[in-house]
Amino acid sequence: MAKKLIIANWKMNGNRALATALTRAAGDALGRASAANEVDAPDVILCPPFPYLDLVGAILAGGAKLGAQDVAVTQNSAKGAQTGDVAPTMLAELGCAYVILGHSERRAHYGETSAQVAAKAAGVIAAGMGAIICVGETGDERKSGRAFDVVKEQVLSSIPKGANVNNLVLAYEPVWAIGAGMPARLDDIMAMHEFIRRTLQESLAPLAGLRMVYGASVKADNAAAILSSHWVDGVLVGGASLKSEEFTAIIQAAAKAA
Ligand code: PGA
Repeated sequence: MAKKLIIANWKMNGNRALATALTRAAGDALGRASAANEVDAPDVILCPPFPYLDLVGAILAGGAKLGAQDVAVTQNSAKGAQTGDVAPTMLAELGCAYVILGHSERRAHYGETSAQVAAKAAGVIAAGMGAIICVGETGDERKSGRAFDVVKEQVLSSIPKGANVNNLVLAYEPVWAIGAGMPARLDDIMAMHEFIRRTLQESLAPLAGLRMVYGASVKADNAAAILSSHWVDGVLVGGASLKSEEFTAIIQAAAKAA
């Protein structure tokens, strides 16, 4: 099996001290996983809030990469009359390798559309970074049997036209399971991952390099099972990435699942 991908989404949490401690702990865990030659250390991307990007980037260790949680819709310019926004080129200059886009919290609270997500992803890719595009259905959408239709629509319209799969990560995050303490059932996770791959078969071929991760209530005690599931290349971790011991255990589980 291939190396797993672990993405930490710290959301709007913490301070400089916590960002420092979490970054050091992730670097140590990665270093230990790489040193143990029977396991394959995962790729790890730490995505702190904007104010901590510089700090985290300066102390990253063990091969971990830096990611941001959002970006402006731009024509890939580092300047513009967009008060409050951050350009893709600014993130790239800070050392970001990835940007999370279209998280359900941004779609729900800021009315972000899939078309905007696609435009942001195009800017991110043009600036030399990878786009982590989040999709997922709400609880009502799943209950009414529309989960697959909703995710299909999001996937097809959130990926910029002509994108190369090597610059993309797709994150399936069922909205109803985010922060809920209980992830989706493994069968449902695998079914949706397989469905997304089949959906993209035509528009994004060849798909071999596309990485797809699951996110929503991933924790130390369920990570191994999720990471060993067919079609799942990694996990996107919110709450549990704010606790060093939990995140360390997830890194270890990923190394064993690789
Ligand atoms: P959670 O969040 O792990 O706390 O459920 C995941 C996410 O929203 O990215």
